[in-house]
Amino acid sequence: MAEPLPYPVGLRLAGRRVVVLGGGQVAQRRLPGLVAAGADVLLVSPSVTPSVEAMVTAGEVRWERRRYREGDLDGAWYALISTDDADANAAASAEAEARRVWAVRSDDAAAATAWTPATGRAAGVTVAVLTGQDPRRSAAVRDAVVEGLRDGTLAAPYHRARAKGVALVGGGPGDPDLITVRGRRLLAEADVVIADRLGPRDLLDELPPHVEVIDAAKIPYGRFMAQEAINNALIEHAKAGKAVVRLKGGDPFVFGRGMEEVQALAEHGIPCTVVPGISSSISVPAAAGISVTHRGLAQEFTVVSGHVAPDDPRSRVDWAALARLTGTLVLLMSVENIPAIADTLIGHGRPAGTPVAVVQEGTTAAQRRVDATLATVGERVRTEGIRPPAVIVIGEVTAVGPAGPNS
Ligand SMILES: C[S@@+](CC[C@H](N)C(=O)[O-])C[C@H]1O[C@@H](n2cnc3c(N)ncnc32)[C@H](O)[C@@H]1O
Repeated sequence: MAEPLPYPVGLRLAGRRVVVLGGGQVAQRRLPGLVAAGADVLLVSPSVTPSVEAMVTAGEVRWERRRYREGDLDGAWYALISTDDADANAAASAEAEARRVWAVRSDDAAAATAWTPATGRAAGVTVAVLTGQDPRRSAAVRDAVVEGLRDGTLAAPYHRARAKGVALVGGGPGDPDLITVRGRRLLAEADVVIADRLGPRDLLDELPPHVEVIDAAKIPYGRFMAQEAINNALIEHAKAGKAVVRLKGGDPFVFGRGMEEVQALAEHGIPCTVVPGISSSISVPAAAGISVTHRGLAQEFTVVSGHVAPDDPRSRVDWAALARLTGTLVLLMSVENIPAIADTLIGHGRPAGTPVAVVQEGTTAAQRRVDATLATVGERVRTEGIRPPAVIVIGEVTAVGPAGPNS
C-alpha cells in the first residue's frame, strides 16, 4: 500500500512553547523561522553553535545547557528533535508521541510525526514544499516558486482587494538585470506603468498586453509644467483604482524628483511605496571598471548635478569647495557644461592633470568610456561626440584598475 501523504498545515506558534533538542546545524537552520513565528522556544542542549548562541544572547531563545531528559516536552505544542544522541532522540520521540506533541526528527524522518517542509517567503506568500524523502528536490521547487513570485515571472494575481496606489520604483541605470527584485515584481503586478526615458526600458517589452505603458516624456502638459502633468497622471490612474508603477532611472531620490511625486500623491491621500534603485552615480562608474572609492586614494566621493553651469545664478553648487577636495567627484547631467565645470575646478585649484573618465550609456549595450584629464575633458567630450546620458568621474580612482588609462 502506498505511504499515506502528509497533511500540510500552517502552525500558528506565537506565544506557544516549542522545544528544540540539540543546538547544532539543524537547530541553527530552524530557529530563525520559529523565532519569526513568535514561538516561545526552549532549547535544550549541552552545547550550541555560535549563531545559535547569538540568538540566545539576543534573548530570542531560552537555552538550558544540558542533555535531554524525560519531561522536557511538558507543555510543548511542537518539538524539534535533533541531538547527536540516537537514544535521546528515540526517547524524546516516544515522549512526544505519548504527550501528543507533533515532533520532527532530524535523524529519522520515518520515526517522526511531522516533517519540515522547504519554506520561503515572497510577495506576501509563504511557500512550503514537501516531496517525501527528497529534501533537495523540495528546496529546488521552493526556490523556483519563490524566485518566480519575487521577480513576477510566476503570475499570481490577487483576488482579494489589495492596497493599490503608486509604487515609485528605481529601475537602476539601464541594464534590465539591475532593477531590484521588489521593483521587478511590482512592475509585473502593475496595471499602469509611467516610465522615464532612462532606466530599464527593455523590461517594458516584457509586460503583459493589458498593462498600459505611458512614456512620461510624452505626457502632454499644456498649461502645466511637465512634472505637474506627470503627477496628475499618477493621481488620475491611482484614483481610478489602478496599481500604478512610476518607473524611474537609477534611484528615485537621486536627482529624480521622486519626492515631489511622493508629496503630490500624499496631498491626494494616495498611498505610495518607494522602492530604492541602483543609482547611475555609482553603478555606471562600476560598470566601466571604476571604483568611486579606493583605499589610499579617495576617502570620499561627491555626487553633483552639473545641469546648470557654474556661473549660472541658479547654480547652488560650491565649486570652489569641491575643487579643494582630493577625492572623487561624480558629475551627473553635466555633458553640456563639462568645459565650464572643468575650467572652474582648475581655476579653484584642482590640478589640471587630474584624470577624468566619461561613461556614456553605462550598463547598456551602447556603453562607452572616454578617458581624459581635467584640462582636456571638455575637448575630448566634443571630439568624441559624447551625448547624454553620461556620468563623468573626476579623480585618481579613474586611473586605477584594469580599465584605467595606466593599465
Ligand atoms: C535626471 S538624472 C537621474 C539620475 C538617476 N535618478 C540615478 O540615480 O541614476 C539623469 C542623469 O543620470 C545619469 N545617468 C543615468 N543613467 C545613466 C546611464 N545608464 N549611463 C550614464 N549616465 C546615466 C546621467 O548623468 C543623466 O544625465
